[in-house]
Amino acid sequence: MRKDPCYLISLASEAAKKAYAPYSKFRVGACVLYGDGSVYTGCNVENTSYGLAVCAERNAISTAVADGKHSGIEAIAIFSPDSELCFPCGACRQWVAEFSENAKIIVQDKTGQIMEFSIKELLPNAKFMHDVR
Ligand code: THU
Repeated sequence: MRKDPCYLISLASEAAKKAYAPYSKFRVGACVLYGDGSVYTGCNVENTSYGLAVCAERNAISTAVADGKHSGIEAIAIFSPDSELCFPCGACRQWVAEFSENAKIIVQDKTGQIMEFSIKELLPNAKFMHDVR
């Protein structure tokens, strides 16, 4: 990996400080790493119309897409100061799969231990972009 997983978690943790989560009080930050070494962060953004909340992961990826990154996610780190362990939701897994079949998902447990999973592990039998004909 082009960057230390610990470093990616620390950026995700910084991003979580910016979360707008007055309803759930569950702050999340994400840091997405691309094959060229670039990183983008995001936090969750909620709304008084609860169902409109957008996850940290998708906000980070959207920022990257707006910067021209249409493929090549190498890894995404997710951190919540309000949870012992924060895995990406199903929708975010599908978003990660859209931009890489080989992305690593990085999370940190309450003891500080970093864990890595592949997107294929966390989203078995995913529909990948190249499946669209
Ligand atoms: N959330 C994220 O941002 N990422 C996750 O991986 C899990 C859930 C947000 C959505 C909502 O704002 C809050 O956490 C509670 O579900």
